[in-house]
Amino acid sequence: MEKINVLFTEEEIEKRVCEIANTLYEKFGDEEVTFVCTLKGAVFFACDLLKRYKGDARMDFLRVSSYEGESSTGKINLKLPLKAENINGKNIVVVEDIVDTGYTLNYIRNYIQEMNPKSYVECTLLDKKARRVVDINPDYSGFVIDDLFVIGYGLDFDQKYRNLPYIGVVVKE
Ligand code: IMP
Repeated sequence: MEKINVLFTEEEIEKRVCEIANTLYEKFGDEEVTFVCTLKGAVFFACDLLKRYKGDARMDFLRVSSYEGESSTGKINLKLPLKAENINGKNIVVVEDIVDTGYTLNYIRNYIQEMNPKSYVECTLLDKKARRVVDINPDYSGFVIDDLFVIGYGLDFDQKYRNLPYIGVVVKE
């Protein structure tokens, strides 16, 4: 097994996820909110976020892909679509694992906006701001990070490491 440097511990993630859940509850109060989790990377984050969210939450899933290995291809493929009736007229919170170039979130934003939600916000656990190509800024972000390829807590490198409970960086020999 490769050596991994821990960037955010389980405890640090848990604390930040609670803060975001509370901030979102302050925004929406008792209105119904549909959290759209982007598969697969955001699954751990979305589950923990919903467990901490005190309001009326629904959950849906979307899958797009653009990554191969450590780099974004820029070409987004929709692998699992949403049903328009689950988005139209609803308060939507997109839950992303990480925003890097911004291509993926930009695609998701356009895709969901076309279904006319009542309101729309974006929430990402990690934000690699320095790598942005598309001018897009999520409404809520857990941690802004440097230009590092991170793994764990749902994030993978070629499908590996998703099950780590913390977020880390693989140390290259
Ligand atoms: P973007 O389209 O370049 O913003 O890339 C967003 C997607 O790329 C995320 O949803 C992740 O699936 C993946 N990604 C970007 N950076 C990383 C990383 O450091 N580790 C693992 N996956 C990443």
